[in-house]
Amino acid sequence: MSTGYLWIKAIHIIGVVCWFAALFYLPRLFVYHSATPDQAGRDRFKIMEDKLYRVIMRPSMVITLAFGIWMLVLGWSAFASSGWLWLKLAGVAALLGYHHYCARLVSLLADDQSPHSEKFYRMFNEVPALLLILIVILVVVKPF
Ligand code: HEM
Repeated sequence: MSTGYLWIKAIHIIGVVCWFAALFYLPRLFVYHSATPDQAGRDRFKIMEDKLYRVIMRPSMVITLAFGIWMLVLGWSAFASSGWLWLKLAGVAALLGYHHYCARLVSLLADDQSPHSEKFYRMFNEVPALLLILIVILVVVKPF
């Protein structure tokens, strides 16, 4: 692998780590936010959620995708026949759906509308961990 490719991969992994920091923490904030009865407390969560989404989560998602797609283009001839890659991309599609639903929840909660219970947010919070386990095993072990 060329040094250039390895730099792209390093930046891809940095993006992944930052994206997941936010994917793990934002739904945790939803859990606490939805259980907060007072307006001042809820307003504080709104600021935290908005900052976390706009400053960390969205930019790191863009970096992960851009550098991942760049590697895909560079190594396409080898990747096209790799089964693990297609399943990984399905996992990434699920992650993007999750990401966009989080963005929707940030704006609903900003309007003091919480469409779900605290228990729902606790379960919702576990989804990125499952996708992380799946995707990392696929890219490192490359089982098929
Ligand atoms: C559009 C989204 C993505 C694309 C196109 C993409 C593509 C790629 C490609 C082509 C590689 C290089 C594989 C190799 O050289 O063998 C790679 C490496 C990697 N990707 Fe992604 N990726 C994406 C999203 C993600 C996500 C969401 C995660 C984490 C959950 C992730 C985790 C990793 C890791 C850990 C590696 C390093 C594997 C290694 O070489 O040991 N990627 N990605």
